[in-house]
Amino acid sequence: MNRSFTRIFLGGILIFLIIQVIQPVRNIDYGQVPSSDISKVYKVPENIQSILRTSCYDCHSNSTDYPVYGYIQPFSFFLENHIKEGKKELNFNVWGLYSKRKRSHKLDAVENQIMQRKMPLPSYLYLHQGAKLSDEKIKEIVDWVESVRTENL
Ligand code: HEC
Repeated sequence: MNRSFTRIFLGGILIFLIIQVIQPVRNIDYGQVPSSDISKVYKVPENIQSILRTSCYDCHSNSTDYPVYGYIQPFSFFLENHIKEGKKELNFNVWGLYSKRKRSHKLDAVENQIMQRKMPLPSYLYLHQGAKLSDEKIKEIVDWVESVRTENL
């Protein structure tokens, strides 16, 4: 092996090790379902809860179920960024604090995003196959959104 290659290689390993020290504050609440959770505001049947928890809550709630790679940089950085951005747009745990107008807008957005298969984020699905939404699951969510709209808005 030539020397400059070895140097670059070792340098790369060193940088990898050093960035491991940078670890973000985790998005974990260790608690029960908060009183402002969407399930306390609307009737959310078991099947819908399960879909939202499996496919959306990692980025749209205050509690992420961290995968092992979530503790390794630089993956941790990208994951944490998705969580931060995702929560800013939509946080199912604080639904109760949203205004009527915002709720209505977010319900539309949920419907649109899943029908266009933009959510869950495709990059997330590589490592979370179980979070992929089948056609039936998409229909279940869309039907549920419709029922919420007629009952509550
Ligand atoms: C890997 C993280 C991740 C997962 C999982 C995820 N999202 Fe997102 N979501 C984001 C990010 C990041 C944004 C903001 C940037 C964007 O729109 O791409 C977002 C934006 C949204 C928005 C847009 C809000 C608005 O007002 O325009 C909706 C709606 C949404 N997500 C719904 C969902 C639903 C429903 C699920 C589950 C079926 C889901 N997301 C799963 C990361 C995620």
